[in-house]
Amino acid sequence: MQTLIINIKELLQVRENNIDKVSGDEMAILPTLKNAFVLLENDMIKDFGTMDNCPKINADITIDASGKIVLPSWCDSHTHIVYAGNREQEFVDRINGLSYEEIANRGGGILNSAKKLNKTSEEEIYNQSKKRLEEVISQGTGAVEIKSGYGLTIEGELKMLRVIKKLAQNYPITIKSTFLGAHAFPKEYKENHSGYIDLIIDEMLPKIAEEKLADFIDAFLETGYFSVEETERIMEAGKKYGLISKIHVNQFTAINGIEACVKHDALSVDHLEIVTDEDIEALKNSKTIAVALPSCSYFISIPYTPARKILNAGLPLALASDFNPGTTPSGNMNFVVATACIKMKMTPEEAINAATINGAYAMDISKTHGSISKGKKANLIITKPLNSFYEIPYCFGSNLIESVILNGKVIT
Ligand code: NIG
Ligand code: FE
Repeated sequence: MQTLIINIKELLQVRENNIDKVSGDEMAILPTLKNAFVLLENDMIKDFGTMDNCPKINADITIDASGKIVLPSWCDSHTHIVYAGNREQEFVDRINGLSYEEIANRGGGILNSAKKLNKTSEEEIYNQSKKRLEEVISQGTGAVEIKSGYGLTIEGELKMLRVIKKLAQNYPITIKSTFLGAHAFPKEYKENHSGYIDLIIDEMLPKIAEEKLADFIDAFLETGYFSVEETERIMEAGKKYGLISKIHVNQFTAINGIEACVKHDALSVDHLEIVTDEDIEALKNSKTIAVALPSCSYFISIPYTPARKILNAGLPLALASDFNPGTTPSGNMNFVVATACIKMKMTPEEAINAATINGAYAMDISKTHGSISKGKKANLIITKPLNSFYEIPYCFGSNLIESVILNGKVIT
């Protein structure tokens, strides 16, 4: 099956297929082709170039993209799309003056979602979650990481991971799965942290590995959640089962967590609303990428990740949605890119790099996703007619997507 997209006003993120991520100064440059074509064969990008080199073939489907922009689908490397129910009461409580921390201390927050999840059947969780997945697909996301972490019991965590697996089997979007048993301490382990970590390591991890339910392991390394030492135990245990870590860290406080994550070869460190000079030093010359989640900062009114500080240090940065019921009930990557530009002072070029190729790196899929490169997955966004790609973040409240292509097939 061949699909030929012709007369593309501007084709974004065209690269050789050997770049795994872009960092620092390189992020300011977004390689593009004007007046371009892309040829898709089955689920792959077969060829691309300028229209004067467009092959004269009779493709099965030809799409005229005159006036439109084509870019690789968003790669959203951090979400919690699988959950039960919502937490809109906490949203109103925050409007009335309570902080995220105060709500969590009253038994709200992650434990509130865990209570709901453990009471909900696997089928019902699947049905609720698939609607969110369908929504993010329509918003241009072509690859997504989904975490567990609202079970906090063996059954609950397995239930979440099985739902993620089923979503991956039933939908054309690429899904990576992360085990986040270390999201919060259940009430009964409040005074027995090592007991819960033993449960994660001795009971949950072996079952998850046996059923091949996770690609990565995560923990919430934060004051009041998992300490540096506790997170190190989780990272070490994960590694024994081949699970590389992607860690929630520096959301509210900096406690030298990033250095520990780098030491344990974490693929990504996510949140980083608070970043010290030591954190920046720890990330230099490492393979660990920083992932910023601006919709979370927007929604719960906390600082934005200091993108300029990270980029000016020459480090790469990825952008993700953090879609979850507590801090970010949105998986809209167009909004993430716009908010990164508006609030974090990233240029459109930097933000698009961060939400495509660098997002792919943060899921370890940059060999196959995140850029327009020969041999990569045919996952594309075709926009409505635009003046320039700057309109993507500029028109922050508009839906500028005309259609999305996943695995070479037009979805919407
Ligand atoms: O990434 N910070 C930790 N975890 C989630 C929020 C969890 C929740 O409130 O449900 C996050 O923001
Ligand atoms: Fe998160």
